Amino acid sequence: MSSHGAPIPMTSTPCGPLHGTAVVPGDKSISHRALILGALSIGETRIRGLLEGQDVLDTAKAMRAFGAEVIDHGGGNWSVHGVGVGGFAEPGTVIDCGNSGTGVRLIMGAMATSPITATFTGDASLNGRPMARVTDPLALFGTQSYGRSGGRLPMTIIGAADPVPVRYEVPVPSAQVKSAVLLAGLGAPGQTVVIEQEATRDHTERMLAGFGAQISVEDTAAGRVITLTGQPELTAQEIDVPRDPSSAAFPVCAALIVPGSDVLVPGIGLNPTRAGLFTTLRDMGADLTYENERLEGGEPVADLRARYSPDMKGIEVPPARAASMIDEYPVLSVVAAFARGQTVMRGVKELRVKESDRIDAMATGLRANGIAVDEGPDWWIVTGLGHGKVPGGATCASHLDHRIAMSFLILGMAANAPVAVDDGGPIATSFPIFEPLMGGLGAQLQRLEVAPV
Ligand code: S3P
Repeated sequence: MSSHGAPIPMTSTPCGPLHGTAVVPGDKSISHRALILGALSIGETRIRGLLEGQDVLDTAKAMRAFGAEVIDHGGGNWSVHGVGVGGFAEPGTVIDCGNSGTGVRLIMGAMATSPITATFTGDASLNGRPMARVTDPLALFGTQSYGRSGGRLPMTIIGAADPVPVRYEVPVPSAQVKSAVLLAGLGAPGQTVVIEQEATRDHTERMLAGFGAQISVEDTAAGRVITLTGQPELTAQEIDVPRDPSSAAFPVCAALIVPGSDVLVPGIGLNPTRAGLFTTLRDMGADLTYENERLEGGEPVADLRARYSPDMKGIEVPPARAASMIDEYPVLSVVAAFARGQTVMRGVKELRVKESDRIDAMATGLRANGIAVDEGPDWWIVTGLGHGKVPGGATCASHLDHRIAMSFLILGMAANAPVAVDDGGPIATSFPIFEPLMGGLGAQLQRLEVAPV
């Protein structure tokens, strides 16, 4: 099933060279945060280039339910009239975050230190994902949560009426957990301290500073120590959302594996906590260059140019790089199939608790398409066959996971036979223009008609 409606089976047929400019949508992580911090600030926050994918639209709807005025002005221009820190109203409806782990976890944090109650739910994928990683630290503030067994949604959160600040060491490398604790810390008096062993995406820290919060980040022997002073008055901002590196990954990887391709992907956010895939591809021998490197809205940005790269080799991806490319392992595993030798990916246990178990979903589909994959609890190895040698020909399950669906469609562009997915519907959660964008470059994507039942 797709996340919002009937399944949309799709096929990707091997295609000729991909050419042109791929203008991908705004960054999903930054879009969620812009809406949430806009809602927690005083005044009108204007956002340009917001990702209008379903995940972010669900967060916009949630912010309205908590009392903010969120207006869509068209063309990716949005405004948010916030209610200020501590100003959230109690929602009159259940908050449905759809497919979005980022949406639900960040919003739980943002409401956790207000004296209100909210009930959260999502689609079948989100309702199967672990929430204790967020509700455990929120309990330290005095927040109560009542969910299904295993800490799953649907779940009711009772915000702390009299919150205390916390000091919390994040036990898993997760920007969602870190961000939930920081957003909850906004509502508590005094200093909330979050410590992470591995640096994860830092958009929340950067944006909190931009909205006027007192926040410091220190790299110490004990890890990255983030200190936030609670109960600030956040001031509305103008936000230009950079284009999403996690979406750019798809046209970039397609260009590297489809013979004769040359694709420009302009204006991509290259925050070092997000750009691990591009470094890895270059380590594998990809012809991938950064042009026109610049700073936009405090984030490093460049135009990416990707050309067909027939001589890529498998490598051991440094585990220390995992957090900076965690969403890109599925499409990396597709590129790895076209490289020579083994691509070894270790330290990636978190892949098992994303929108799907991404190691299992990719390994199963890659094997069905003739590629050998070995796997363990926190590692997997793809044995590349080299260009022109990847059989393809199978239908893969996308498991309500946008990145799994897109990765297999990229595989079909360069395999020897078409590759299908059972449901391309989830692609709309993060990359609603994926089909026309890839089609405009020369990809052959088809939706298959499903007979009505
Ligand atoms: C995100 C953090 C990551 C990532 C997700 C977006 C964020 O999740 O996989 O797509 O915006 O904070 P984790 O925090 O679970 O690693």
